Amino acid sequence: MKIILIGFMGSGKTTIGKLLAEKLNLNFIEMDDVILKKSKRKNINEIFEKDGESKFRIIETEVAKELVNKEHAVISSGGGVITNKINIDYLKKEGVIVYLETSFESIKKRLENIDDRPLFKDKKSALNLYKKRLPIYTNFAQLVIATDKLNANQVADKIAKELNYGGK
Ligand code: S3P
Repeated sequence: MKIILIGFMGSGKTTIGKLLAEKLNLNFIEMDDVILKKSKRKNINEIFEKDGESKFRIIETEVAKELVNKEHAVISSGGGVITNKINIDYLKKEGVIVYLETSFESIKKRLENIDDRPLFKDKKSALNLYKKRLPIYTNFAQLVIATDKLNANQVADKIAKELNYGGK
């Protein structure tokens, strides 16, 4: 079984993914970490600055393809994974796509003092991106979980329950 978490930057994919993987005894895979390793850069900001977003997207698709055969895993994707439909086609083979639906207000608060998102530096364009992507996340999702009123542990439990896993 494979669970793929999608959602905007700051929607909690990493935190919730780790908790969920632990609860269900699955491996945890952070797509951004795999991308970073392949890029040979220091961090995501550096990939965007030196290689450009288009290079980042190319590696992202390579990684999505490599994950087709991964089993027993919770995969935390990057917020822009939905910009190329092929990524979702790869990821959803043998997997279920779960969208963590979070308001822009909550996201802004969570990312307030965090500086590692090249596409969240300018809040106005980040909001535009959010509005543009919202229907795409919804469209690809097989399960949608609203996260604003829940803590990470409650979200992980809810996903496990909805997918009929029970949880630990
Ligand atoms: C991106 C989201 C980031 C990372 C990169 C691009 C995006 O991942 O992949 O900065 O386009 O939304 P997180 O969603 O984990 O922040």
